[in-house]
Amino acid sequence: MGFVYPDGIISTAGHVDAGKTSVVYALSGVWVARHSEEVKKAMTIKLGYTQIGIYDCPGSEYPLSDGLLDKGRCPDGSEPKLLRKISIVDVPGHEVLIATMVSGAAAVDAALMVIDATMPVPQPQTAEHFAVLDIIGVKNMVVAQNKIDLVPKEKAVENYNQIRKFLSGTWAQNSPVVPVSALHRVNIDVLASYVAKITPKREPDLSKPARMAVLRSFNVNPPGTPADKLRGGVLGGTLLQGAIKLGDEVEIRPGLKIDRPGAKSPYQPLLTKVVGIEYGGEKAEEARPGGLVGLMTTLDPALAKADALAGSVVGKPGTLPPVWTSLELEVRELPRMGEKAEPMKPNEVVLVSIGAATVFGVVQSVKKDTAVIALRKAVSAEQGAKAVITRQIRNRWIVSNYGVLKG
Ligand code: GTP
Ligand code: MG
Ligand code: MG
Repeated sequence: MGFVYPDGIISTAGHVDAGKTSVVYALSGVWVARHSEEVKKAMTIKLGYTQIGIYDCPGSEYPLSDGLLDKGRCPDGSEPKLLRKISIVDVPGHEVLIATMVSGAAAVDAALMVIDATMPVPQPQTAEHFAVLDIIGVKNMVVAQNKIDLVPKEKAVENYNQIRKFLSGTWAQNSPVVPVSALHRVNIDVLASYVAKITPKREPDLSKPARMAVLRSFNVNPPGTPADKLRGGVLGGTLLQGAIKLGDEVEIRPGLKIDRPGAKSPYQPLLTKVVGIEYGGEKAEEARPGGLVGLMTTLDPALAKADALAGSVVGKPGTLPPVWTSLELEVRELPRMGEKAEPMKPNEVVLVSIGAATVFGVVQSVKKDTAVIALRKAVSAEQGAKAVITRQIRNRWIVSNYGVLKG
């Protein structure tokens, strides 16, 4: 079978420790929190991602995902028939890290909301993630009611009713809610079938100029690699439109900050060549929208290390959106439960998520519904792009406003 492109992206959402990473593991067979620090703390610090195949197997009532196959085979030993291939982004639930979710979720087609059946609904991050999904325009969701192995049946039913009540009257009121145990692999086949059902298939428009959002970047060389064996920087992310082919020359914005007195912009875009394309370890000739892709480049690997280029955009030289070091936003308050937040004020430090980037900024001025925010790190974004603002309110980072980029 030839290479099959993933044709959609689903993002996890939900409160810290609800079991998002465990559900992704049950579905895919891949533990996406790879970093030893992350594993130690059992708290997802950065976005993890993988892809899942969803297959038809003889004799199985529901389609099976990779995590449910036995060494790539159906339970009866036969060859599975691929129905869909979908990329999954796994986001952190910790409150300080919601902004990471926003940046990663900017390109997603659907959400997998994981809810802990042992806790009352909604937990704070459940509600906040849900509000963010609405702003970024995600309209498709499946809920995994997780950890049902820990609650008696009556409790599970009560929790299910709380979930239904939480969703009632919202855009997600008809979303399926699937009781599961990620740990014991209960009902994961049913969940997989809903993941395939609610994630819309992208019909990629390959004729538009390529635009990739960089979610992670890496230096893949072990320390001490000799200079002639060094591999170039690797960019992980997703194509929003168009296609990038093996051998293409590409531009990365905003690029490098340079000190050049009198220069129009303190940022210098980077130019590089694409020498490898991979989807979840499988090599491909072309990167397309709808999946999470790794681009091997000829960049100095030091420039890509430790997510240094996360938040950048990649495309054909000369076609990328402008670079901004300060944003003028038309700001709206988010519909929130509970108390109202104070308006933003000058000198306040905020986190701004726009396109693929999440950066700190300092509020310069607020007049009526217009805020000017100076950014610590530049972003490349189109005029009219949506920005989500995370603020520190009473010692918690809270997604509080969103804005539209005016200039
Ligand atoms: P953050 O990324 O930190 O927000 O957490 P998460 O939502 O990814 O949760 P994670 O998958 O790391 O699981 C948190 C804890 O819940 C771990 O100790 C898991 O072993 C446990 N857990 C996850 N799913 C289940 C389940 O179905 N049953 C039981 N009993 N425990 C579970
Ligand atoms: Mg996690
Ligand atoms: Mg955790």
